[in-house]
Amino acid sequence: MKLTPDQQAMLDGDKGWPLQIAMKMLTAVGAAADAPDLIPVTSTHLVIDGTALGEAGRDFLERLVDEGGRFAVPASINAIAVDRTKTGMTDAERDQIRMLEACEKMGALPSCSCNPFIQGLLPAFGEHVAWSESATAPFVNSVLGARTNREGATAVASALTGLTPRCDMHVDENRRGEILLRVSADISGVDRFSLLGALAGRLAGDRIPVLDGIATPPSVDEYVAFGAAFAIHGAVAMFHIAGITPEAPDVDSVFDGPPPDATLIDEDAIAAEHARTANGRAGPVDIVSIGCPHASIGQLRDAAAMLEGGEASRDVTFYIHTNRLTWDMAEAEGVIDTLTGAGVSVTADNCAVVSYDRVPAGSRMATNSAKMALFARSVSDAEILFGTTADCIAAGISGQWRKA
Ligand code: F3S
Repeated sequence: MKLTPDQQAMLDGDKGWPLQIAMKMLTAVGAAADAPDLIPVTSTHLVIDGTALGEAGRDFLERLVDEGGRFAVPASINAIAVDRTKTGMTDAERDQIRMLEACEKMGALPSCSCNPFIQGLLPAFGEHVAWSESATAPFVNSVLGARTNREGATAVASALTGLTPRCDMHVDENRRGEILLRVSADISGVDRFSLLGALAGRLAGDRIPVLDGIATPPSVDEYVAFGAAFAIHGAVAMFHIAGITPEAPDVDSVFDGPPPDATLIDEDAIAAEHARTANGRAGPVDIVSIGCPHASIGQLRDAAAMLEGGEASRDVTFYIHTNRLTWDMAEAEGVIDTLTGAGVSVTADNCAVVSYDRVPAGSRMATNSAKMALFARSVSDAEILFGTTADCIAAGISGQWRKA
């Protein structure tokens, strides 16, 4: 890779260990991707989930601080594995807080959310950024038209240096459509967009899909639900919706050459995806999880309105996950009181699976998120009951999943 003298000095260690280790990471990734050079980024989003990083992650971040590491560009933080306000933390939970504090000392914003978009963190069209958390990349690339790869630990390196390798989603020709998905199914609501995202991700694999046939632009909540499921079921960081997303004015212009034959996504395909997602049958519910990715203020208001006058079953642990900023807004409006008064646990910072308190193995979980469904099945072997937000709330109140 071609480096500037300043970048070479960082790599040589002339500017301290944090910048040297960051440059080693970026140049290794860049070399593997045949990147010709490094380009500036304007922001980063960091995953510091303590359940994944453990003590090694804590020690690394704290050493960066001790050796003078400071972030060169804005850095937000993904969901962490504990509510920051929890009292009586375990050692592991305190380690998670130490990781967050280390990032804050280097200049990070403690946003602690997998849905940074509802906190106003919105890169503009054409901006180059380095965001980790797989679910953020499709939104950044596809909806906003900004540019990021699906970053991992490299996002910390980008935060320290303000740089990322010029490769993959940062390059015009890598952002073109590769397969065509013709959607004839009627898609609306976060649950249906989540199912569509899961199916589109699986069909796409490592190819950028173009979805044609969606007549109404999705809401932000629907885009977020789609993108999260899309990312976790596939391997690409971008999708297009013909006539709607900014780099896809129409089907003909988003492909290099003529559009390929389309794969049809009809009502039967969505029904099959529902069946693949939900492996549980009607009967008692142990857990309800809404807010994956973290719920917006609108979703909290809607849930409060649906729960008005109702009360969660004592047999159900009823979660709605959100971030601290949204939680505070909802509290100011009285929405948190309505929800907690009805027996709902409104979590901030973490969620049912990004937590040291994971759902018990084999639980029966009702959710409206295909991403939560996949995670809960894989980390807790949960039995999944999948439906609309209203279905999940009804199950939370009655303690029963009534659908087949
Ligand atoms: Fe967020 Fe947890 Fe879902 S971190 S994307 S709510 S699995």
